Amino acid sequence: MASTLKNKSAALAGIAADIVDSGTCPELAATATQLVFGDGNSNAELLFIGEAPGKQEDKQGLPFVGAAGKLLNQLLDSIGLSRDDVYITNIVKYRPPNNRDPLLEEKKAFLPYLWQQISVIQPKLLITLGRHSMECFLPGALISQLHGQPKQIEGPDSQEAIIGSLVLLPLYHPAAALYNGGLRKTLFEDFSAIPELLTANNT
Ligand code: URA
Repeated sequence: MASTLKNKSAALAGIAADIVDSGTCPELAATATQLVFGDGNSNAELLFIGEAPGKQEDKQGLPFVGAAGKLLNQLLDSIGLSRDDVYITNIVKYRPPNNRDPLLEEKKAFLPYLWQQISVIQPKLLITLGRHSMECFLPGALISQLHGQPKQIEGPDSQEAIIGSLVLLPLYHPAAALYNGGLRKTLFEDFSAIPELLTANNT
């Protein structure tokens, strides 16, 4: 167990180094303070995937440490989990200037690295936060229609042997729920289904 964790952490550190060494999204890298690769338990059953780092994340080098991150912590707490139990990352791993939406080509450039993270962590459940990460797995899907509904997805051909099929749960982004009481309620309700989904996936 301890050696698995160590191996997984080392493999994740290798992927982070590859992103930097390969010069992925050089324009974003030039304006960002640092790469925000991901954080949490590399053996986690739950992998959360957000959009891109914001100002605080760029400064600290960690995902979801600003206002949206505080709400994510509360959501985790509502199902008896903490950040140490899960792994959290983003589709785009450098802060876009002025927090603009990530571009399609930026999401495409980072997607192979996200699949590598998934194949190392081997989570039971992928949870996308917001439409940007959801669209990488379910192109054309509408979050207003699909949020809270688990979907079976396939890994890419290159990693199929390792990943096989996976369950994805699309959720609203916590930032969207910060000033919208209705969305906040929906997000907490959708979160409450996670423990049962994990149990179902354990069989
Ligand atoms: N929003 C995101 O999508 N990711 C972060 O890391 C922070 C805010």
